[in-house]
Amino acid sequence: MKEINQHQLEALIDSAKLAREFAVAPFSNFKVGAAILTEGGGVFTGCNIENASYGLTVCAERVALWKALSEGGYGFMHLVVVADTNDLTPPCGACRQIIWEFAGDISVTMTNLAGESETIRMSELFPRAFDVKFLDDKGSGR
Ligand code: THU
Repeated sequence: MKEINQHQLEALIDSAKLAREFAVAPFSNFKVGAAILTEGGGVFTGCNIENASYGLTVCAERVALWKALSEGGYGFMHLVVVADTNDLTPPCGACRQIIWEFAGDISVTMTNLAGESETIRMSELFPRAFDVKFLDDKGSGR
């Protein structure tokens, strides 16, 4: 898998921070931004979007991925997640499942507004994932 360079990473972080500004988070006041880079150089961004029924909230990471997939994005290479926390915010469990399924073992940079960051691979964030390979090995189905 292609690795991001420093210039691309800085630009991707800026894109995620800009997306975070659009967060719709009136219930938690917790704004998150995400940006995903493809091997072809495409960038897709997302913010978290909350709503009055709470449970239908969508995280920034999934918004970015849904936007990417619905616009023909493929070959995902690197994801940035930004929130205003001292402990760097990682993708939630649901997002980890989705990122794994649609982007595989990509690198994820978690960063905050103070400029701290850490990069980790999905296989470290989400070890022993359930995915389609188990469905291929499902036996009789009863
Ligand atoms: N949230 C994200 O968008 N991404 C994460 O990685 C963690 C949580 C959102 C969901 C909700 O709108 C708010 O942050 C608080 O959980």
